[in-house]
Amino acid sequence: MKPQRVADDVEVALVEGHCEEHGDYQVERPVVMGRPWGASCPECDQRRQEAVAQQKREGLERAKADRLAELLSQANIPKRFEGFTFDDYEPVNDKAAKIKQACQRYADRFEDRLQMGGGLVLCGITGTGKTHLACAIANHVMKEHRRVALFTSVVKMSRAIKASYGSKSDRTEEQVIRSFTDPDLLIVDEIGAQRGTETELLLAQEIIDERYQQVRPTILISNLSESRLAEYIGERAVDRMYEGGGAILAFEWESYRRSGKGRRFPQPGPQLVPNGMRDFYAG
Ligand SMILES: Nc1ncnc2c1ncn2[C@@H]1O[C@H](COP(=O)(O)OP(=O)(O)O)[C@@H](O)[C@H]1O
Ligand SMILES: [Mg+2]
Ligand SMILES: [Zn+2]
Repeated sequence: MKPQRVADDVEVALVEGHCEEHGDYQVERPVVMGRPWGASCPECDQRRQEAVAQQKREGLERAKADRLAELLSQANIPKRFEGFTFDDYEPVNDKAAKIKQACQRYADRFEDRLQMGGGLVLCGITGTGKTHLACAIANHVMKEHRRVALFTSVVKMSRAIKASYGSKSDRTEEQVIRSFTDPDLLIVDEIGAQRGTETELLLAQEIIDERYQQVRPTILISNLSESRLAEYIGERAVDRMYEGGGAILAFEWESYRRSGKGRRFPQPGPQLVPNGMRDFYAG
């Protein structure tokens, strides 16, 4: 076979060979020191390459699945809302439909939020689906954006800080604070559900402020109205939420479960509920 000169320093030659499986073949090989180098069956070569690529894809898929499992397990989403999505949320009226859309958009454009900031305030009556939608946002952010989300409350944050004070604690106060400022998305639920101590509120404000400085979005959830919430946690903390594309969403309709639409947890009719239990079932 006559070697061809294809570049200044590389010659190739057409080599004939035979594969047990694929029969006779011809391949072009570079000529090294006067001889064609490393001829093998092109079909077998391609199969090997595909197998390697497949393995790599499977490895990546596995790594992605492992990462998602890790994200989900450390997010502290309440068990009741695990795996909740926007599809599980049925808007009960136009306002609810708009709010659902706003939450979906917020989740879809989460990468923008990480660039520009912008939090959310979900406030209003109990049972209207604030926690539900916030968890749907967190689940989306973890599944679709592979971002770190953490669900907490003012009480839980302060409990974690207090636990760091003991000499037996394996985390310093600073590490605990960082565990709340580091996640890409922090959801603080139940704001104002209990009378917070001044220390608790200062701590929450510090965390909200630090996240704002780091351009890490935060979602605040409260049963208080917007103005009561601002009084409670501070005007400044609430203002931080708007900046860079945030919004306040007021859930102003009756409880989903009270409205009789809550198929998830069928509730007894009011006449069957003992007086003292009425709030329990309503809440
Ligand atoms: N529009 C809705 N569609 C489907 N489920 C809803 C809706 N609103 C509320 N729920 C359900 O009702 C229950 C109470 O909602 P939740 O998110 O805890 O309310 P909130 O946090 O506003 O008090 C949850 O089980 C939630 O899934
Ligand atoms: Mg809630
Ligand atoms: Zn072959």
